[in-house]
Amino acid sequence: MSILELNDLSFSYKTDEEETIGVKNINLTVEKGEFIVLLGHNGCGKSTLAKLLNGLLLPDEGTVSVDGFLTSDESNIYKIRSKVGMVFQNPDNQMVASIIEDDVAFGPENLGVERSEIVKRVEWALEAVGMSAYRKGTPFKLSGGQKQRIAIASVLAMKPDVLILDESTAMLDPQGREEVLSVVKKLNADGMTVILITHYMDEATDADRIVVMNAGQIEATGTPKEIFSDKELIDRCRLHPPVCCGVMHKLSALGFPVEPVLTDEEAVEVLCRLR
Ligand SMILES: Nc1ncnc2c1ncn2[C@@H]1O[C@H](COP(=O)(O)OP(=O)(O)OP(=O)(O)O)[C@@H](O)[C@H]1O
Ligand SMILES: [Mg+2]
Repeated sequence: MSILELNDLSFSYKTDEEETIGVKNINLTVEKGEFIVLLGHNGCGKSTLAKLLNGLLLPDEGTVSVDGFLTSDESNIYKIRSKVGMVFQNPDNQMVASIIEDDVAFGPENLGVERSEIVKRVEWALEAVGMSAYRKGTPFKLSGGQKQRIAIASVLAMKPDVLILDESTAMLDPQGREEVLSVVKKLNADGMTVILITHYMDEATDADRIVVMNAGQIEATGTPKEIFSDKELIDRCRLHPPVCCGVMHKLSALGFPVEPVLTDEEAVEVLCRLR
């Protein structure tokens, strides 16, 4: 069953002097429980698309429907904001309270959720991101990865159907990235629909589906293997495949009988066959 439906969606940023295309003629259906990774070079429209999905931006043309509710209908906007949660790049900009559990409670409080239910949700959300032990502490002393996990908990407390992460690992060290990704993968395994926007191609290899954007449009969709096997697409959209995959493309160009791979383990297997 689908949770997001985008039909002929276009949006431009307008000032008195100029108009910049954000996204153009997007058609996309996301199924409940899918793990989608959105890729594309700087300025191709990923963040614009994300903001259109939860009604932070509204379509100029076409429609976005979330679980059957159109974002263009003003009366749906609260419902949509609670159904589609967004986590952004900078964890420091997402903290609103000086005590972690108050921070996580902020979203459902704004939605008018009952006090006893908020308490339950805060407990559950902190547990889901492995941060229960920190509930009485202050977010400002946490590591970047921990802060992003709190940001995810704050979104989870609104019980969204879809979690969008817009380069939420970009400012983290490798350990912080790993912490956040493992939380996201666990949530997805438990049924959460996830849309992950990233420039780290190794974060894309576990996706159910990769959506590649270019100049405001969807250039391709496919499994990680399909996308990263397509050398022409990779070059055209200026993607940088995972290192092991890039090495295979180079070996293949030199005439070695190798196929594209997504992980180092697969690369080792393929190379051992060449012995
Ligand atoms: N607030 C804004 N006002 C005017 N133009 C904007 C605004 N935000 C984005 N744009 C433009 O819209 C286009 C799409 O930008 P968007 O931020 O969606 O790209 P992105 O794929 O998220 O890029 P990045 O990888 O750098 O985050 C770009 O040309 C950008 O310059
Ligand atoms: Mg962006």
